[in-house]
Order: sequence, then structure tokens, then C-alpha cells
Amino acid sequence: MMLDKKVSRLDRKIDEMKKRIKGAEDLRTASEVFDRATLMSLYQLAKRGYIDILQGVIKTGKEANVFRARDSSGKDVAVKIYRVSTSDFNAMFKYLHGDPRFGRLKKDRRSIVYTWVKKEFKNLRRAGEAGASVPEVFAFWNNVLVMEFLGEEGVPYPMLKEWELEDPGAFLELLMDEMEAIYCRAGLVHSDLSEYNILVRRERPVIIDMSQAVVRDHPMADEFLQRDVANIARYFREQGVTEKDIMERLEGC
Ligand SMILES: Nc1ncnc2c1ncn2[C@@H]1O[C@H](COP(=O)(O)OP(=O)(O)OP(=O)(O)O)[C@@H](O)[C@H]1O
Ligand SMILES: [Mg+2]
Repeated sequence: MMLDKKVSRLDRKIDEMKKRIKGAEDLRTASEVFDRATLMSLYQLAKRGYIDILQGVIKTGKEANVFRARDSSGKDVAVKIYRVSTSDFNAMFKYLHGDPRFGRLKKDRRSIVYTWVKKEFKNLRRAGEAGASVPEVFAFWNNVLVMEFLGEEGVPYPMLKEWELEDPGAFLELLMDEMEAIYCRAGLVHSDLSEYNILVRRERPVIIDMSQAVVRDHPMADEFLQRDVANIARYFREQGVTEKDIMERLEGC
């Protein structure tokens, strides 16, 4: 039957993709991350040229794994794969609920995670269009997001947390510009801004991980903004910056 043929071709493609997943640290992670539905999503993205080979894990996070991959033109990309099974979908629901962009929500785990990925894609695109320094997003499919690889020669840029800055004061200035772009021009509150979600590209900040970002008129937006600002003021306290200083910068818009 045609469908059988298609399925077995799909299976072959999936097996082929599995084989071409290099450097995934161990099979436990692999089988947890690469369930059948996820392999199907990867296949859809591969078919469209967004992914050719998955080259290895950049980071295994709480809810997602980030891989370095290559697209069909040979360019490095980053692939973020959310694990449907271990995602905290109650927390996700809290951020989705109240966001006018996602009016009617299906409440099952899988749908919530898929909406979450779509939200991350939209947020990153919107922030990028507003001039913020964020990874360019290329595509998403269900629980998989493909974006610009932030790094050089296959080596990802470090998190702010693990990097000793040459000039923290200058970096802080640039970071406040980014906060302004995201809050004032994109109209978003990042909502998980900290030294873990800022990468350092040649001594300049790049903001990542925007799945939980909300629009400014989200009922919790002010609270989330306070928390973001507090994190940055804490990290840069040696530069003499206070929460109030940063808030004043953002209140003007
Ligand atoms: N586009 C990218 N290019 C290079 N490295 C990346 C990219 N995106 C993420 N990373 C790396 O992977 C790590 C985890 O990514 P991210 O913060 O988006 O996921 P997470 O914290 O696991 O997600 P979540 O908080 O939604 O569970 C980052 O700290 C960063 O080191
Ligand atoms: Mg993160």
C-alpha cells in the first residue's frame, strides 16, 4: 500500500536521522528526547532543508535540549527540542494564559508544549524585528525550534554566568540597550532574564531563551519585569547599578 510505503520510507528516514545524530551523550538522553513524534518533527524540518545533520548536544536543560546542527546548505544552526514528557506544563500554562496572542488553549500536555515552542519562535522574531540582539529564528515544528547558531567554528558562545567580562560597565550599558529594545520596542517582558540566558558574543550581549516572554499587557508583566531587573541589578551590583536605575531607563517608554 502507498501509505505503508510512505511509512516505511519515513522509518528509514528516521533511522537515518538517528544514525546521523552524532555526539548525543548517551542513549538514555537520546531515547527520552528522540521519541517517535520528535523524530517525525525533525524529519519534517529535514525535508524542508532546515536540518541536515544533528551534530551534538550543546546543552541539556530542564525542559529542552539544545543541539548544534547543520542545515542543507551546510550552515550551522541551533536546534532546541522540548521534551514533552518532562515539561512543566502547569508553569507553561501560567505564562500562556493571559497572553492575548494565544486565546483558546488546548490543555493537554502535548498541545501546551507545541504552543510554547510557537511562542518562543514568535517572541524571538518580534524581539529581533525590534532590533534586539537575539538569535534569528528559521522554523519550528511541534516541539522543535531551529534558529541561528550562536558561536564560532562550532563552538557556542559562553553564557554570561561563565564568562569573565573585559569591561563589565560597558557590557551593562549594552545590556540595558537590549532590555530597552525588548521592553520598549518589542513590547515584551523577557521574564527569565539572568546571567544564564545571556550569551557573550565578542564582549556583547545576546539574549536567548524567550519562550516564557509575555506581552506588556499580560496580567503578570510588571511582576516579571521587576524580577528581570532585580536579577540584572544583582549580577552587576559591583558596577553600582540599582534596580531603580534600570527601571528608570525602561519607564521612559
Ligand atoms: N542559538 C543558540 N546558539 C548556541 N547556543 C545556544 C543557543 N540557544 C541556546 N544555546 C545554549 O543552550 C543553553 C540552553 O538554552 P536555553 O536557555 O534556550 O534553554 P533552557 O534554559 O533549557 O530552556 P528552558 O528554560 O526553556 O527550559 C543556553 O544556555 C546556551 O548555552
Ligand atoms: Mg535558559
